[in-house]
Parts: sequence; structure tokens; C-alpha cells
Amino acid sequence: MTASAATGAPSPGPLASLDGAAVLVTGGSGLIGRAAVAALVSEGARVTVFDRADAADAGLPAASITVIGGDVTDQPSVRAAVQGMDAVVHLGGYAGLGMADAVETYRVNTVGTFTVLAEAAAAGVRKIVYASSINANGYPLGSDEVLPPVFPYDEDAAPHVSDEYSLSKQAGEHAALMVAARWHASVTGLRFPLVRDITADGGRTFGAHLRAALGSDPRRQAAEGWSYLDVSDAGRSIVAALLHETPAAPGILVAAPLTYLTTPTEDALDLFAASVVRRPIAGRGVGLELRRSRELLGFEASVLLDEVAPEQLVDLASFEPSRDPSRDGSGEGSA
Ligand SMILES: NC(=O)c1ccc[n+]([C@@H]2O[C@H](COP(=O)([O-])OP(=O)(O)OC[C@H]3O[C@@H](n4cnc5c(N)ncnc54)[C@H](O)[C@@H]3O)[C@@H](O)[C@H]2O)c1
Repeated sequence: MTASAATGAPSPGPLASLDGAAVLVTGGSGLIGRAAVAALVSEGARVTVFDRADAADAGLPAASITVIGGDVTDQPSVRAAVQGMDAVVHLGGYAGLGMADAVETYRVNTVGTFTVLAEAAAAGVRKIVYASSINANGYPLGSDEVLPPVFPYDEDAAPHVSDEYSLSKQAGEHAALMVAARWHASVTGLRFPLVRDITADGGRTFGAHLRAALGSDPRRQAAEGWSYLDVSDAGRSIVAALLHETPAAPGILVAAPLTYLTTPTEDALDLFAASVVRRPIAGRGVGLELRRSRELLGFEASVLLDEVAPEQLVDLASFEPSRDPSRDGSGEGSA
């Protein structure tokens, strides 16, 4: 343990560079994890992946990284893994609903996040970045189908949580606050939106995903402000977060600045969220306020569907508007 961690003195702050830095990535075998590892390796970091023993390591640059099999909820394994690290990136856990039952999802995500963040901070790790989610405010995935209180919405929009995954992400942000307060650790959360490799198969895989998602639950896509982020940009946002000092919570929204729709955003809101309070959104601007990602992280997404595969952009008018729950007073999306 370093002197600062032992005494609770202010941490030395974020890293000035990742060149030569020792970085542990939990969940490093996963979708965002592999992109984070690639981005870190290209910055010159010495990367260790910590993931479930049965996780695939395909796609990891095996020559330049170390892989440890372990569970983020297992304190001794995590304690051993964080020793000597300059930074920890915490991505390990369940990335949504339906991957495990409700208690297991909540347990792994909350206990895992607390364990990794607390052990890293107690060990004097200089910088901790953790994956939160656009779902930390509960709107998109909640069983109580509501819309955000305003568009575009930011990290301070009042949460309305009605599912275990969103609750686990909200709890993770509370854990980050506690860890930062107790150990004076430098902690940054990222609220990822829909993250995919939008370049795969020339954009067709992503386009098919968007059409299926809009077909099955257009309200959810509205609640996400029709946002997305290419996985390589997710990796770049993690690098940016490692190199900047921010409040430990709320997690910072990171997304492409434009929606995946051809429909102008104001027209899309007329269709799916007409009664929600609105500030002006120019053109196809995403329904999220991205000021903090720009000002606190200096982050701007660079891989846009407009450029990768503009033919995959979706005309929202071809999807039936869902019931806007704010119109009949059953939800929290009304003005
Ligand atoms: N992909 C998205 O669209 C998205 C959106 C918002 C937030 N997130 C968050 O980003 C993080 C990474 O998501 P992803 O899309 O890469 O998910 P993923 O499922 O591809 O990767 C998660 C990784 O965590 C590992 N893992 C699961 N349980 C573990 C445990 N108990 N111990 C150790 N490792 C464990 C898995 O083996 C996997 O490699 C998650 O916290 C997720 O909630 C993802």
C-alpha cells in the first residue's frame, strides 16, 4: 500500500501518460474489454487482463499482455491482481438483463464493482475507471416503461430504476463515490450507450441490430436518445478517462454525437416522446447532452455510422410509434 492510500492523503492524480503504465482490465476478454486492451497496448501500457477463467481470450494480443483467470467478486484474487498496478479499468460483470437471474446479476455487478474499486483504491492504484451505463438512470431497460424527463438529457437527470441491471449500475456509481471519499482515489465512470463494432460486415450487422431493436421496443431506443458508440471509440474513451481527473460519479455519458437515424431528432421526438420537455436539438443530434465528455475528458467519438455505412441509418417513420407513457400519466416522462 502506498503512503497516500495508507494515510488517506490526496491521491497523486491521474496518469500523465500510459506509456509503460501497468494497467489491469477486468472483463478484458469481453467486447469493450478487447477494445480497451487494444487501445491501451497502442498507448504503450503493460496490460493485464482479469476475467473469468472460462472466458475466451480470442482477439487478445497474447504476445503483449498477461491474462489472469479470476472472479471480480472474489476478494483475495482481486487483491492479488491489483498489487503494483498504476491503473485499473473495471469492465467485468453482466452487461445487461437476461444473462443471469436477477439476484446473480445484481450480486456480481455490485459486489464485483465494490470489490475491484475498493481493493484498487486501498492498494494505492493511481487511477480507476469503471463501466457504468446509460442505464444507470433506469429509463431504457426498466420494466416500468418511462421516458427521460427531458431531451437531450444529461448525467443529472433524475433516475427511475425498475430493473436489476440498471440498479446494479446505479449502485456501482454509489460505490465509486464511497471509494473516492474514503481513499481519496481518482475514479472516473463512463456511462456507455449501445456499444457495438459498427464496422463489422460493412455495417450490416449493426444495421440489422438497430432494425430489430426498433422493431421490438422503439420506446427503449427513444429512452436512449437513439445513441450508440463504436467499440473502438469505447476503448478511446477509456484511455481519455484514465488520463483525466473527474468526479467519481455520476458516470460520464460517452456517445457518437449523431443518432443512427435519418430522421431529424426533433421529428423523432415528435413521434415517440412528444410530451417530454425538450431543449433544441439541431439536425440529427443525439438525444443526450455530451458536454461533460467533451469538457472533462476531451473526448469526441470518431467512428460514425454516417461515414462507415450511411445506408444503414434508419428512417424512424417506418416504425410504429409506441404508446408514449407520459401521455396518460402512467410514467415519469411527462413535463
Ligand atoms: N456493450 C454495451 O453496449 C454496454 C453498454 C453499457 C454498459 N456496458 C458495460 O460495459 C462493461 C463491459 O461490457 P461488454 O459489452 O464488454 O460485456 P461483455 O459481456 O462482452 O464482457 C464482460 C466481460 O466480463 C466478464 N465477467 C463476467 N462476470 C465476471 C466475473 N464474475 N468475474 C470476472 N469477469 C467476469 C465476462 O467473462 C466478459 O469477458 C459492463 O460493465 C457493461 O455493463 C456495456
